Amino acid sequence: MKEFAGKISASMMCANLANLKETIEVFEKKKIDYLHIDVMDGEFVPNLGLGIDYIRGLREMTSIPLDLHLMINRPEDKLEWLEIHPGDMVSVHIESTIHVQRTLERVKHYGCKTMLAINPATPIYSLEEVLEYIDGINMLMVNPGFAGQKLVQSCIKKAERLEDFLNKRGYSHLLMEVDGNISIDNAKILRGIGADVFVAGSSSIFGGERDQLEDRIDQLYAMIR
Ligand code: DX5
Ligand code: ZN
Repeated sequence: MKEFAGKISASMMCANLANLKETIEVFEKKKIDYLHIDVMDGEFVPNLGLGIDYIRGLREMTSIPLDLHLMINRPEDKLEWLEIHPGDMVSVHIESTIHVQRTLERVKHYGCKTMLAINPATPIYSLEEVLEYIDGINMLMVNPGFAGQKLVQSCIKKAERLEDFLNKRGYSHLLMEVDGNISIDNAKILRGIGADVFVAGSSSIFGGERDQLEDRIDQLYAMIR
């Protein structure tokens, strides 16, 4: 486990637009670390979502950094559309481009945290040649594209193997983000394994009534700190 406290990245595809302002106010009060933005192109994943205007709108509402999860083909061609800030975190998928290393260098250029995302079926060894170009790995615990899915069970063991893989290569400092079905229970298990950043969606903070949001954030922080 890393020395610093675990971080919450709130999954904005799970936030109700009708009360977005109040939700953001709660996130600011609770010092939520990142807003997780699932950018989807209908090609890399079978869904469309959170685009440029939404991102701009959020930037006007808050200075909480964004955690941009790019589920789009050839992200290297689209990075400049996103107006990435230095404090953001940006995940590109290893499966989304032929030119992974070049794409990572382009992301790094924005001064943000450069994260490489891997789907459940993508082997850990595929990270081998690009470890020096990244700040962390976003481990998908579901096949991405939709909220409310069940975790692919083999991904828990995969997270253990990833931690071991990084330790053995002298890359234990890389962040491990976990995304998909991060319930309070799953967060506890994954924190024990060494995860650092927890995408919080319908399985945790957005799972109950609106007036439970603050309590649910407290419960999740209690598990990961
Ligand atoms: C996948 C998404 C989802 C979701 C997280 O890219 O990030 O995993 O928003 O929330 P739940 O808890 O619904 O999986
Ligand atoms: Zn995501």
